[in-house]
Amino acid sequence: MILVTGGTGFLGSHLLYTLASENSEVKALRRSTSNLEGVREVFSFYRDDPDELFSRLRWVEGDMLDPVSVEDALDGVTKVYHAASSVSFDPSDRRRMIENNIEGTSNLVYGALKTGVEKFCHVSSVAAMGKAAEGKMTGETDIWKNNGRKSAYSVSKFHSEMEVWKGINEGLNAVIVNPSVILGPGSWKRGSPSFFYRIYRGMKYYTTGVTGFVDVRDVCRCMIRLMDCPVKGERFILNSENLSYKQLFDMIAGSLGLQGPKVPASERMLEVGWRLAWLKSKLFFSKPVLTKEMARAGRSKTYYSSEKIEQTLSYKFTPINETVEWTGRIFLEKFARKIE
Ligand SMILES: NC(=O)c1ccc[n+]([C@@H]2O[C@H](COP(=O)([O-])OP(=O)(O)OC[C@H]3O[C@@H](n4cnc5c(N)ncnc54)[C@H](OP(=O)(O)O)[C@@H]3O)[C@@H](O)[C@H]2O)c1
Repeated sequence: MILVTGGTGFLGSHLLYTLASENSEVKALRRSTSNLEGVREVFSFYRDDPDELFSRLRWVEGDMLDPVSVEDALDGVTKVYHAASSVSFDPSDRRRMIENNIEGTSNLVYGALKTGVEKFCHVSSVAAMGKAAEGKMTGETDIWKNNGRKSAYSVSKFHSEMEVWKGINEGLNAVIVNPSVILGPGSWKRGSPSFFYRIYRGMKYYTTGVTGFVDVRDVCRCMIRLMDCPVKGERFILNSENLSYKQLFDMIAGSLGLQGPKVPASERMLEVGWRLAWLKSKLFFSKPVLTKEMARAGRSKTYYSSEKIEQTLSYKFTPINETVEWTGRIFLEKFARKIE
């Protein structure tokens, strides 16, 4: 029996689909507040009759912050895919996110050691990697250092990964994946799927940074293949291509039959922008649409190497233009019609 955490999120719902479609017996952890409709919708991106497969999932209620519910969820489980995490760049979420991600992962790791889980896959992030020297690609051995400019998300992902390394030292049979920005269809107003929504609504500015992107289906497949092979005690960057935001946004706009944003957002514009967004969020008690961390990330240029996973699994990643075409088609079929 497999346990998936984070199954109601973007990556987790695609992972649940992939596992269920392979006939695996799957339990999925959900909180009392979790919404399962988004998961059913993700299943509908893959097939016209999502309900039969969806009904095969066994949902168990719990919270990774509650060690008792974690141990209950682990009952009879041989493999764990740990994709639950808070993901936020809002400074007001800082403390809650760091606690949630580190403590939650620690509870999962120690629960898995105690109940004798056979294999554990932890979803980390490239945010938990260091940055290579100028002109070099970032790889698995580039060590994360807190230079005081790291986002709270990055701090939380690095220390969560450390909880897994501690577990590995104590005998946990585990693998770690570090995906770059994951692309695919999902909840269109959150995370990377929101790029499609924002471009569809008319995006004028783009940020000048470069980063890695990977197809959500590749992340799921690599995780499953790593769990089904003898590899253990290793971390793997999952990345298809390194692209500028301008290149990505032009591809997305093309998939929607639109023009991409034309104006580069200057450093000054971003610095003023996040301060105004902060002020507006305080005045209207809302979430800021741009934060200091987002402004910095949008300008940074980082290139990731996927050589290790490609060699270990003989894996070939889906080109990003194919991911964008697939996602754009689903966006137009499933979502754009509803808001016209
Ligand atoms: N999306 C990306 O581009 C990207 C890139 C690299 C790495 N990652 C990593 O991939 C993983 C999944 O990311 P995502 O984008 O799918 O995130 P997401 O859509 O925000 O989903 C997060 C999931 O975690 C669950 N969760 C959070 N706190 C929990 C708790 N205390 N107990 C139980 N469940 C909890 C959420 O449950 P509720 O439904 O109850 O809120 C949700 O199912 C994360 O580890 C993230 O760091 C994501």
